[in-house]
Amino acid sequence: MPVPLLDISIHDDVLLTQIEQGLLSAVRSSNFIGGDTIERFLREFADYCGAQSCIPVANGTDALVLALRGFGIGPGDEVITVPYTFIATAEAVTLVGATLRFVDIHPKYYTMDPTLIEKALTPKTKAIIPVHLYGQPAQMDPIMDVARRHNVRVIEDAAQAHGAEYNGRRVGSLGDAACFSFYPTKNLGGFGDGGAVVSNSAELIRRIAQLANHGRAKQYFHDVEGTNSRLDVIQAVALLAKLKRIDAWNQRRRDIALRYTQVLRQSAFISPPEVASTSQHVFHLYCVETPHRDSLIQFLNDHGIGNGVYYPLPLHLQPAYVRYRHKRGDFPMSERAAERILALPMYPDLTDEQVDEVCRRLAQFSPKVIKLRP
Ligand SMILES: Cc1ncc(COP(=O)(O)O)c(C=O)c1O
Repeated sequence: MPVPLLDISIHDDVLLTQIEQGLLSAVRSSNFIGGDTIERFLREFADYCGAQSCIPVANGTDALVLALRGFGIGPGDEVITVPYTFIATAEAVTLVGATLRFVDIHPKYYTMDPTLIEKALTPKTKAIIPVHLYGQPAQMDPIMDVARRHNVRVIEDAAQAHGAEYNGRRVGSLGDAACFSFYPTKNLGGFGDGGAVVSNSAELIRRIAQLANHGRAKQYFHDVEGTNSRLDVIQAVALLAKLKRIDAWNQRRRDIALRYTQVLRQSAFISPPEVASTSQHVFHLYCVETPHRDSLIQFLNDHGIGNGVYYPLPLHLQPAYVRYRHKRGDFPMSERAAERILALPMYPDLTDEQVDEVCRRLAQFSPKVIKLRP
């Protein structure tokens, strides 16, 4: 039985009908930008995150750029983040003209290692961007502690972690601001690009909202130069309907993860992901670690089990960042993860039979046995 890595089609007829009605009403009223639906979404998403305020924007990359701009971060400033993430985290820093400073990840959780931050701080450091990678929150208490001692802002990159919790608090309410992506494959995904910045500072969100709408104070009057980065109503319709399901979907992801993990605890060749005692993980991706990755990929491909490498090359070794003159060995935990990580099928609509099939194949895997008879 083939099991895809991912399937984002909607199988729930009730949800589909709700969204269809919302879309029809947007089309009939010709209301595509701004208005009540956007206002409802920003309120409900802020509440969901346990945060004061939210401004929806065009995508997760813009959310990061606008959060940095909202804090006045730009040329001459430094921002600390990890090299083991999607490139958007780093792009945002350089897009505002600031300089990247990488710190390595924790070997088990793949999120920023808080013990390494202090060494990377300089008088120019203005912000830290921890990434809640794969759906697991970064170690926010020690990160906030260093940040507060050095008067540095913390911007959560929560693009992969809608609904995840750290010590009982949702991501989005932990740092000075948090940035989300609603790219269709995310735990909360729209019908195209989308993003949001969430914060407990209403003043920050007001500034970002202005920047995201051409810096305008009122129509055709502009206090500052901004950009065009608005979430459209079509996306908000889909996201509002899906927001009601996300907790159930995240729970289903955790149940599937538990099944995989139970099998992998018996494996001599594949390690399941580690969940910190502080985390409520939402398994945007279920990534295993193995020194036999090529062999595992071939085995899974032979049996029709989807898999993917997120991410094969850490950012400090990417040609795009050659100007930072990093070399192999600079961030060993990121390099190790990039060589050993593999994502297995994970989405809420996986059937029990599909989960059984993945478990059965994982239990059969041995690096020497590349092909098994069915
Ligand atoms: C960790 C991380 N940060 C930022 C982004 C950027 O989001 P978007 O694709 O919506 O611009 C992504 C999206 O894939 C991501 O995974």
